[in-house]
Amino acid sequence: MELKRQHLIDPVICIRCNTCEETCPVNAITHDDRNYVVDASICNNCRACVPPCPTGAIDSWLMSSRPWTLEEQFSWDDLPPEAKLEEGLESGPEPAEVTAIIDVATASTGGRVPPPFSAAHPYVNVYSRESPATARVAGNFRLTDPDAESDIHHVVLDFGIRPFPVLEGQSIGIIPPGVDDKGRPHNIRLYSVASPRDGERPHHNNLAVTVKRVRAKDDSGKLIEGIGSNYVCDLKKGDQVLVTGPFGDTFLMPNHPEANIVMICTGTGAAPFRGFTERRRRKAPDAAGKLLLFFGARTPGELPYCGPLMKLPPSLIDVNLAYSRVPGEPKQYVQDKMRERDTDLAALLKSEHSYIYICGLKGMEQGVEEALSDICRLHDLNWTEIRAQLRREGRYHVETY
Ligand code: A2P
Repeated sequence: MELKRQHLIDPVICIRCNTCEETCPVNAITHDDRNYVVDASICNNCRACVPPCPTGAIDSWLMSSRPWTLEEQFSWDDLPPEAKLEEGLESGPEPAEVTAIIDVATASTGGRVPPPFSAAHPYVNVYSRESPATARVAGNFRLTDPDAESDIHHVVLDFGIRPFPVLEGQSIGIIPPGVDDKGRPHNIRLYSVASPRDGERPHHNNLAVTVKRVRAKDDSGKLIEGIGSNYVCDLKKGDQVLVTGPFGDTFLMPNHPEANIVMICTGTGAAPFRGFTERRRRKAPDAAGKLLLFFGARTPGELPYCGPLMKLPPSLIDVNLAYSRVPGEPKQYVQDKMRERDTDLAALLKSEHSYIYICGLKGMEQGVEEALSDICRLHDLNWTEIRAQLRREGRYHVETY
């Protein structure tokens, strides 16, 4: 059977920014409210659409015995598994999970700890309020289900030729335009970087942040809208954004391939871990060190990057999801999932190559610590001593808000 190569767009990675459709000189690309698709009868494989794509979703060439129709492509949640990637062509990135909104005023580092011994040296404070970098919005994509309560967005910022060096685990600042009710410029909002150091799309000078729109009622019932999060969630492709940073010199990813990384997060706290996971996937997918993720959300539809996360192979990452509000199912928190994995966690706690990172709701900190303490007790380990050692050695990092 003769196989033909067909250019397709990976619906899991695509942020629906329309760049490919705008770029295609022969109008082979079109979309509906679900997917961007390529008409095989029109596409002449000129590849004009490839370089401008901010995520690499466009880097999908599949071999098949007949062209996939537009109707088929419109129906996909993922590229078809039976189709094979043509050898030699770069596949697009498979984003893992991700992001955190960290309010400058409330961010807690859990005490000053050194970075992991093998972390790369970070650049910090390269850009300030007085001298910010200007980034262009390459795309803004809602991650949570249309009917989900949380409105979480994946926003890709492109720095063009302006250097903006980040490492996994660092944050950037975004300056919302305008002034507050006292006429002062708005505070800078910090967001964890959700991409690995070599870009949201490999070898591109861009990065993603994952931002949850803040809308809450105060005690009197008045609606409070987060200035920063609403600004970022409403950004349109092409908008210019003032960016400061990068920030953070301790919550960094260890580089050595033996590093076991235990990542514990809720909601948008998964942002830095998307960067960690994607870094490992791109650079050392066969590393000896394990990646173990505990990720809590209300429901699957509220869990950012659920689709991409489920695509990652178990050999790369061991994923443990805890849902707290799935009708008919018991409420589960990350700490419950950790208890289920007590034997594996105890084994990791004994290794000098293990690192623990916690990111997300402040309330989770206590429950996670209690779970680790109980697990240690069960396995004849002393959590107080282990935690002190982990902290001393830059192997225990907490970023909650
Ligand atoms: P809950 O359903 O009890 O709010 P959010 O969607 O508000 O960002 O929360 C993310 C997840 O974290 C939800 O599943 C939420 O559960 C859960 N959560 C809330 N409080 C805690 C806590 N103290 N420890 C662990 N998880 C928590």
